[in-house]
Amino acid sequence: MEQEIFSMPRIGDKAPRFKAVTTQGPVDFPKDYEGSWVILFSHPSDFTPVCTSEFITFASMEKQFNDANCKLIGLSVDGLHSHIAWLRAIKEKIEYKGMKNVEVKFPLIDDVSMNVAKKYGMIMEGEATTAAVRAVFVIDPKGTIRAIIYYPLSLGRNFDELYRIVIAMQTSDEFKVSTPADWRPGDDVVVGAAGTCEAANDRMTGKHPELDCKDWFFCTKKLDKDTVLKKIIKK
Ligand code: BEZ
Repeated sequence: MEQEIFSMPRIGDKAPRFKAVTTQGPVDFPKDYEGSWVILFSHPSDFTPVCTSEFITFASMEKQFNDANCKLIGLSVDGLHSHIAWLRAIKEKIEYKGMKNVEVKFPLIDDVSMNVAKKYGMIMEGEATTAAVRAVFVIDPKGTIRAIIYYPLSLGRNFDELYRIVIAMQTSDEFKVSTPADWRPGDDVVVGAAGTCEAANDRMTGKHPELDCKDWFFCTKKLDKDTVLKKIIKK
């Protein structure tokens, strides 16, 4: 049998457009999300345990993401009635890590046709042919894909890390810096590599007192937590 070719969007691409039915009404994506960061994520199946733990966790953090101008939108290849029944069961019956009566208020896309899942490369045949893998697309306010993460079916996501990614990417954009390993607001940030010998020399001879250069290619600078959060968190 001939294998179907699924497209795989990449970082830097415009988010593929689609119209879909969701638990919160119809969406026209990414048009309806212009001006906001958005996390579009897929889960393999409603009424499964790892996905249930993920939805409780993500829904409990929704305000935190919204305060950072980031909206959430989920997807699986289940239908609307399944989504509604599952979200109701979560609210009425499931407790996870002390979180209970959790109402999922962000939209969950009905993608029975797999139209969206195929456009976003969420179906990975080696993992499952009838379900989406756990994919995460971080999309910026202009509709550009800025980060993509895929997880296998058996592994629940770390939502603190997704929040860290959203804050770090906005920090990079706002302050024109990069964020080093394990960066959190308040940690030093990284400045880009020196583009010329002269710039490298300037860095090593103290012409930029705000920089802490261990060598010409590794310079950091202070960026305090309040400055970052004041710029990014809207309450
Ligand atoms: C889960 O969410 O528990 C799950 C979903 C699909 C395959 C395996 C586990």
